Formats: sequence, structure tokens, C-alpha cells
Amino acid sequence: MKVFLETYGCQMNEYDSELVRSILKKENYEFVADESGADIVMLNTCAIREHAHRKVYGRVHSIRHARGKENPVMIGILGCMATNLRRDLLEDRSLKIDFIAGPDSYKRLGQLIREACDEGQKSYDVTLSEFETYADVYPSRKEGINAWIAVMRGCNNFCTFCVVPYTRGRERSRSPENITEEVRRLVAEGFKQVTLLGQNVNSYRHETHDFAYLMDQVSRVPGIERVRFTSPHPKDFPDRFLDLMAVNPKICKHIHLPLQAGNNRILDMMNRTYTHEEFMDLVAKIRRKIPEITLTTDIIVGFPTETDNEFEDTLHIVAAAGFDSAFTFKYSERQGTMACRKYPDDVPEAAKTERIMRLNELQKEITFKKNLAHIGQVHDILIEPSCQDKPVTHTVGRTDGNKLVILSRNGYQTGEMVKVKITDATPHALKACPL
Ligand code: SAH
Ligand code: SF4
Ligand code: F3S
Repeated sequence: MKVFLETYGCQMNEYDSELVRSILKKENYEFVADESGADIVMLNTCAIREHAHRKVYGRVHSIRHARGKENPVMIGILGCMATNLRRDLLEDRSLKIDFIAGPDSYKRLGQLIREACDEGQKSYDVTLSEFETYADVYPSRKEGINAWIAVMRGCNNFCTFCVVPYTRGRERSRSPENITEEVRRLVAEGFKQVTLLGQNVNSYRHETHDFAYLMDQVSRVPGIERVRFTSPHPKDFPDRFLDLMAVNPKICKHIHLPLQAGNNRILDMMNRTYTHEEFMDLVAKIRRKIPEITLTTDIIVGFPTETDNEFEDTLHIVAAAGFDSAFTFKYSERQGTMACRKYPDDVPEAAKTERIMRLNELQKEITFKKNLAHIGQVHDILIEPSCQDKPVTHTVGRTDGNKLVILSRNGYQTGEMVKVKITDATPHALKACPL
């Protein structure tokens, strides 16, 4: 059977698709690059915002339409929408979904496909597990320089706006030995960088071992050049971890630190568990211990009842924190979340749009200033694979702080570490020439 797998959402989903490939390849499924020749199309979906949902519905309709009645295809929904919308997906006759598998059910995929095939009935498994970490599955990764490794799965935080605790269940972590073993194998395969993944990666805990211990262990694997992590939660940054980051040259000096909002009443309603003062104290501490740190963030505008004045607090914190970049989102109500149950989505769309535009404008200025400040500096950059569908016009790499750098000349190998001098900057990237 030929399978076409398409992935939406975050890096955790990208990683899960690599697990799915590995699991199904063992059962002799073949993966193809084009949906037109596939017997099965699987969409690994995201449920974080309404827009993500709509994209998947649209995609299913367009696949059904393209294939027509003469050339039918099986369609399976995996990932976060699967858990969240099992009933809707199965009952929607126009979608004709054949099978559904939630994020903890991928080992049963083969069986689900067979049930849908042989018995012609819809099959599903969206059970969430307290234990499944896929520690025994070695993902089928694409070649490259970076390998994702999920070190923990799930989330216990229940931010009131967020669907993830419902779609991915409770937190659980893999053992440090199991993770470092995988990193050893990755180095042998030629990977230079690993990015440790988790919905709250710094809440990692295995028996008595915490995230600082894990990062230290991973960074000691011979041959690994860079270790990154995402996404942490601001509540879990003990000094021990920041001190390790400060002195360990393998751990990249980049922290993605999601703020979400700058107003304390809104932060409380979001159940983020910190005030903006505590957030700013953390930023100050990080900058004190790791002066060269790159800080990025996530922000939601238009959470229920957020006033214009309260949104101004977000602008103030963004200016004060000086993030290198920010992912910004309009609040999107998710079924089943606490915010959906308790607070009507009452900020008008026009106000959300105005707020996100103002925020993006401000962040763009800050990003540009931050990038300009790099001119004249010397950085080690790791050369990235060039984009395969486009002719190579220039070589790109990333700084330790994860900034994109465009090089003035070509001729480098992917995965090479090159010392460069930054010569120019745009709001989106740095430009550099080799030393
Ligand atoms: N675990 C990560 C977040 C993963 S979701 C963390 O805590 O940082 C990525 C981002 O999507 C969140 O940080 C948040 O900014 C945004 N997001 C989550 N739910 C949302 C919603 N209902 N509406 C709009 N944005 C949302
Ligand atoms: Fe969602 Fe909050 Fe968990 Fe992040 S920490 S996944 S935003 S509930
Ligand atoms: Fe989306 Fe699930 Fe990731 S909701 S952002 S794919 S954890």
C-alpha cells in the first residue's frame, strides 16, 4: 500500500510523522511524495486554532474532489484534531474519513488501516495514554542537520485557552539513557544538532532527573555540536538550568519564552501562573546570566474581556523584554477549554486585527534593531541544507542564537560550521561574509 502523509502544526507533529513513517515502514507500507499515486492519504493535524481546522477540512474535500469516484482513496486523520473532533469527523458524511488515530495510538495504525480496508468500516483509536512515549520507536527522519527528539509528551498546565492538554493528555517523560542513546545514533548518522521537544519541555522529569540533568547529558554525547529545546514554560527555569546554559558551549543560547499577554488580570484568566512582573524578573535574570541570549515569544491578542488598555500592557512588556522575534496570534476559541466554557469570545474581530497589527509593527521594529546590533559581530554558523525545490542562489546558516544568516558566497557543505562576520541586517535575517 502506498501512503501519502502530510503534516500540520508544531514540531511535535513533525516528529510524530517521523514515528508514523517508521512504524508503518516496518509493516511494509511505502511512503510516496505525491498524493495522486497514493492508496492512503493521512493528514497529521493540528487543533490549536480554528484556522488550522478549516485548512484540514478544505484539504480533505479537495483530495476527494481531485480523485473523483473512479479513483477513490482512503483518508485517515491523525494528530490533535483526531482526539478533539473524533465524533464530528466520523459523522460528517461529506468528509468520508476512513480511520482516525490520536497522538498516542500510532502503534495501532496498521491495525486501524486493516480494519478500515478489510471490514469496510470506519475505525478509530483516540485513547490518550499516561505512559506512551514511543521510546522504543526510532523515527524515520529526513536527512539534514537537525533531528527532533520528543523527550516528554503531553501537558498538565491547562492554560484556559489551550486545547493541547485535551488532545495530547498528561505529561510523561522518556528516560535520559534512552534519549542519549538515540542522540549517539543520530551523531553516527551525521546529524550535528538535536532539538529536544516537549509541550513543556522544561517540565521534563524522569524519576529523580530533571531537564537540566537531561540537557547536560545530551550535550556530553561526543560529536553533537548544538543542542536546542522547545517549547519551555516560564514557570520552570531554575537557576541550576540557566547556570548550565550559561557555561555549556553546546547548549544554544536561545530561549523561546512564551509570554501570551502582558496584563496581570488576563494572565490570571489564562492560568499562566505568573504575573508580568515575575515574567520580567525572569527575563532580567536570563539576560544577567546569559547576556548573549536570543529571546523569542508567543503572544495572544484579544483573549476574552481584554480591553484596549490591557492590550497596551502587552505592548509595554514586549518593548521592555526586547524579544528577538514573536509569534503572534488572535485568540481563537477552542471547544472544551476552560476559557470556552467560562468566557464568551467577546473581543470583536476588528479589535483583534487592530491589536495584532500594532503588535506586529512594534515587534518588527524591535527585531530589526536587534538584528542591526549584530553588525560587526563574529558568529559561528551551522550551514543548513539548501531548499530543494529552488535553485541555490545563496547559502544560509544559523547562529547559535538561531538567527538566519545569508552568506555572501556559496561552496559550503551542509552541516559545516563556519566563522563569519555579520555585515548587514534586515528585519528577517543577517547577512555575513566568511572570516
Ligand atoms: N506549550 C507551548 C505552546 C504550544 S501552542 C507553550 O506553553 O508555550 C503554541 C502557541 O499557540 C501558544 O504559545 C499560544 O500563543 C498559541 N495558542 C494556543 N492556543 C491558542 C488559542 N486558543 N488561540 C490563539 N492562540 C493560541
Ligand atoms: Fe497549551 Fe499552556 Fe500546555 Fe502550552 S503550557 S501546551 S499553552 S496548556
Ligand atoms: Fe497543534 Fe497539537 Fe502541536 S494542537 S500546535 S499539533 S500539539
